[in-house]
Amino acid sequence: MKLAVINFSGNVGKSTVACHLLAPRIPDCQVVAVESINADNGQAVTIRGRQFAQLQEFLQSVDNVVVDIGASNVEELLKLMRRYRDSQRDFDGFVVPTVPDRKQQQDTAATLAELVRIGVPPERLRVIFNQVDEEDPVETTFATLLAYCASKGIARPNLSAVVPFNEVYSLVRGTGQTLADLAADDTDYKAQIAKAESQTDKVALARRLAIQRLARGVVTELDECFAALDLQSLATRDPAVPAA
Ligand SMILES: Nc1ncnc2c1ncn2[C@@H]1O[C@H](COP(=O)(O)OP(=O)(O)OP(=O)(O)O)[C@@H](O)[C@H]1O
Ligand SMILES: [Mg+2]
Repeated sequence: MKLAVINFSGNVGKSTVACHLLAPRIPDCQVVAVESINADNGQAVTIRGRQFAQLQEFLQSVDNVVVDIGASNVEELLKLMRRYRDSQRDFDGFVVPTVPDRKQQQDTAATLAELVRIGVPPERLRVIFNQVDEEDPVETTFATLLAYCASKGIARPNLSAVVPFNEVYSLVRGTGQTLADLAADDTDYKAQIAKAESQTDKVALARRLAIQRLARGVVTELDECFAALDLQSLATRDPAVPAA
């Protein structure tokens, strides 16, 4: 399974989705960051947008990979994909996270439209509704994007592909730890807090307890979102759709 995580917008959760949702649920999967600056912590390989030939070679040499395309590289990468005819077919699917802000919904619509324009079949697109407030229905929050998708027929997003807002993503960011590791951590922090002598130690342990609890809740949510993406259906390749 080879996936690109992409959006013209920054800050929609591309790296979060790549590292915490997709890669841990695909066997032997590595995350490659296409960034013009240093990659986020924990990401093994960094490729610059301009090194597209290198990225293509790399894609031929691995079975399972998630390519996290930094927002500043998206336009250039899509331009190169048009130049290297059919190179978009190196990816089984394009995962496009989005967030409730109107501007980001518009950028998401533009991203989906551009992917279709370079020849990606709409059934290979997957939208993820990220940072969703559980109180608000996805249909309402993402009305702008959904109306666009329906009118253009460019993608049929699954409204269950949702990642609720959760502060744990910011708490683990840059620690190099995955949520799965944190959720599997069976340390009894309550017992350790009871034994800790200093107030500072108690506070530090309480923070780890909070992350452990949040992580356990989030892993279930991520499992559900991953199932809703139905990525298995991407495993069989369709004939190429000619690029416009
Ligand atoms: N579901 C969520 N709930 C709360 N915070 C989140 C969620 N998803 C992502 N974040 C936070 O939002 C910020 C942006 O996420 P992330 O870095 O994954 O976005 P990005 O699209 O990769 O950004 P960039 O374009 O800068 O690479 C981060 O601080 C991240 O921790
Ligand atoms: Mg990122």
